Order: sequence, then C-alpha cells, then structure tokens
Amino acid sequence: MKPITAVLLGAGSRGNFIYGPFAKKYPNDLVFVAVAEPDSQRREAFGTLHNIATEQTFASWEEALAQEKIADAVIVSTQDRMHFEPAMKALELGYHIILEKPMSTFSDECILLEEAARKHGRLLMVSHVLRYSPFWAGIKDIISEGKIGQITSIQLTENIGYQHMAHSYVRGHWRNNALSSPIILAKSSHDLDLISWLMDQKCKRVSSFGSLMHFREDQAPIGSTSRCTDGCSVERSCPYSAIKIYLETNEPDYARNITNDPTPEHILQALKDGPYGRCVYRCDNDVVDHQIVNMEFENGSVASFTLSGFTRHIARTVQIMGTHGEIKGNMEEGRFQTYLFSAGQSLEHQFDITHDGHGGGDNYFISSFVKEIRLYDRKNEGLSSASASLQSHLIAFAAEKSRLASGMPFELQSVISGT
Ligand SMILES: NC(=O)c1ccc[n+]([C@@H]2O[C@H](COP(=O)([O-])OP(=O)(O)OC[C@H]3O[C@@H](n4cnc5c(N)ncnc54)[C@H](O)[C@@H]3O)[C@@H](O)[C@H]2O)c1
Repeated sequence: MKPITAVLLGAGSRGNFIYGPFAKKYPNDLVFVAVAEPDSQRREAFGTLHNIATEQTFASWEEALAQEKIADAVIVSTQDRMHFEPAMKALELGYHIILEKPMSTFSDECILLEEAARKHGRLLMVSHVLRYSPFWAGIKDIISEGKIGQITSIQLTENIGYQHMAHSYVRGHWRNNALSSPIILAKSSHDLDLISWLMDQKCKRVSSFGSLMHFREDQAPIGSTSRCTDGCSVERSCPYSAIKIYLETNEPDYARNITNDPTPEHILQALKDGPYGRCVYRCDNDVVDHQIVNMEFENGSVASFTLSGFTRHIARTVQIMGTHGEIKGNMEEGRFQTYLFSAGQSLEHQFDITHDGHGGGDNYFISSFVKEIRLYDRKNEGLSSASASLQSHLIAFAAEKSRLASGMPFELQSVISGT
C-alpha cells in the first residue's frame, strides 16, 4: 500500500517531536512532502530530515496552501489561534486534515469547521489523542460492554504538575487568554472530551469556578527579581525557579521548547533573554491556576472536573460510578480497577506505560488517521472527528462563560446561539 502523503503546517513541538518521528518510524504509512514553518532553523531541519524538495518548504501556511493540492493530507500543528484559517483553507483545497486541539478559540469557528468538513466530504480529525490510548480505550470498552451498568457520575482530575504549570501556563505559550485561549480549552479540551465520550450523552448545562490565585505579582516573595538569573535572593528556595526547571531538572521536553539547541549555554541565554527566564510572579499571564467544572447530561448523569497547577505529578485520575459497578484509575500509572457490585470483586487492568506520547495515544491517533484515509468513504469520520470533538469544545466555552459570571450555570445551547 502506498504511504499517505502530508503537508506539515508548523514544525514546532508537535510537528517536530510527534508527527515527524511517526513518519520516520512508519515510512510505509506517512511521508511528508512539504513543510511550512517561519523559523528557518526548524524549517530546514525538518525539510532535510524528511527529504523534502526545497521548493516545497515554505515560510508560512499561507504560502503552502496558495498552491493546488499536492498531498493527501495536511497536519495543522500551528498555535491555537492559527487553527481555523489554515484548516478551512485546506478543506477547501480537498485535503484530509489532522487539526491540533483546540479546533479554534471561538465557538462559532468550531461549528463552522465541523460544517465545512461535512460539506467538503473530508476527514477532519482533531488531536484528542487520549481516546486512542490503551488506558482510556480500555475504560471505554468496559463501559460499552455494560459491565458497570449505567453511568451516573464521573469525576476526573487533571493534575497539571507544578513545573509544567509554570512552563506552559505561566511563562509559556498558553499563559494568556488573549494570546492563546483559556486553560479549560487549551489544556482540558482533552479531559472534557474524555468525559463526553465516556458518558456518551448530550451535555445540558455547565457551571464553573476558578481563578488565578498564586502566579500574580502580589504573591511575589520579598527579594525576588524580575528574572531568576538576575541574582534573585530566593531563587534557591523557589519551586518555580527557571534555573531548576530548565538547567537542573534534566527534562528535555522543557528545554527543547525554549531553544532549538538545548545545550546549557543556549538554555542559560534563553533564560536571560526569553520568556522562560521570567519570575513566575511577574509574567503577563492571566489564565487560571485552578478550576472546577460541573456538568449535567440529558439523562440526568453528572460529571465534575478539576484542574490544578499545584500537584507534584502530571497525572489524570478518574472515578466512574455506574449503577452496577465502579471504575477507578490513574492514567500515568497505566492502571485502573473495575469493581462489579454483583461479583463483589475487583479486576485489575494494567497497561504498558512506556508507550510514546500521551500513553501511546499520539501514535495510535496518527495510525488511525492513516487508516481512515485509506478506507475513506464519507461515512466514517474517525473516532475524534470534528463532530465528535465539538461537544467538548462547547463545554469548555460554557465553563469559561460560567466562571466569568461567578459560577452561574449555562445551558450548552447558550454558547451556540450566543445568548
Ligand atoms: N494534542 C495534544 O495533546 C497537544 C499537545 C500539545 C500541544 N497541542 C497543540 O498543538 C499546537 C501546536 O503546539 P506546539 O507545542 O507544537 O507549538 P509550537 O509553538 O512549538 O509550534 C507551532 C509552530 O508553528 C509555527 N508557525 C507560526 N506561524 C506560522 C505560520 N504562519 N505558518 C506555519 N507555521 C507557523 C511556529 O513557528 C512554531 O514552530 C497547539 O495548538 C497546541 O495547543 C496539542
């Protein structure tokens, strides 16, 4: 079978470290024939690694999509505010699309994308990759088999991890609502998507509370300076020290996001000059650092979701309460238990946690996209299609609307009709 050919829009972290490696690992499935990326170092490195002809390397998605269709698919892995336009244009040109979540930072654009995918008869698969991970797929199977009866409640917690919080949501790309999107959309469309998918019900209404309590100037310790490298007198005792996170923790995922060449000298320079060396109490961040969302579904079932930046581990924990049994799990441990009331016993389910990104979800997601294109007949939209993903986005918009209205509940319909 011939490999699926693709154009990559945005050779940043996702493009370079998720989609690129997949194509290298499975060249019979996916081959990149063009790349669009304004950062010349990234563009050239990606072009060289994937043997892309120089005339098919572009400085922007606009240039790449100014020509006729040249491949089967487009992967949109630009930043959150640059999803709608390239995805719309690619659909018009007839490409199948992987679109990074969130679909858009505006509810009306999410709806337009879903309609456009249907109108043009193309796959538009949103990167809600957790659906494809063995852990969540395993939970979904147990629920679908009816083993725990009807779901009455789901509790899901997103433990963001204190260093990850500082990296992405205080100093990094997703720190500011106006520059990217509220954290409930940027980070937790995954979680709201899982809840929607597991519940398999229409969400009726939503309420939410949350705020930015800690990463604010009025919380800055005495003696702290505007950068960790400015001789800050509390740097050694600060858990959010950029020197600790980027130079001492030895966590490549963080360092390679702040410089294309993560040697200690370049990292230190990036901390002195760039956004990632800023004191966490003196950034231009405004997204919340903790939030809860309550959801009510059409059949009366309910879900609650908690996100917090103040956790040791990066982990998702879940409890699903059915009329005949219960499931409790921890994704990062790759383990869940099913307790069936009638049998009076627990079944343990353990998954391999050495998988690639997102508990294996990233690679299974891309494989599934390739398979869907090969079998495409307009009937099957894929597990994480735009229509499947729309509800979780609307829940996120409704949650943010509620949070800003002091927790007042909103019908999901209100974010569609703008009431
Ligand atoms: N599915 C997931 O689990 C998951 C995980 C992380 C990030 N994301 C999403 O993936 C997207 C990309 O995230 P990232 O971490 O790779 O970001 P990134 O900033 O590392 O990469 C984006 C790239 O787009 C490039 N770019 C900017 N303008 C462009 C243009 N006009 N044309 C083409 N490229 C352009 C940037 O230079 C950058 O290299 C975001 O929307 C993010 O929310 C999804």
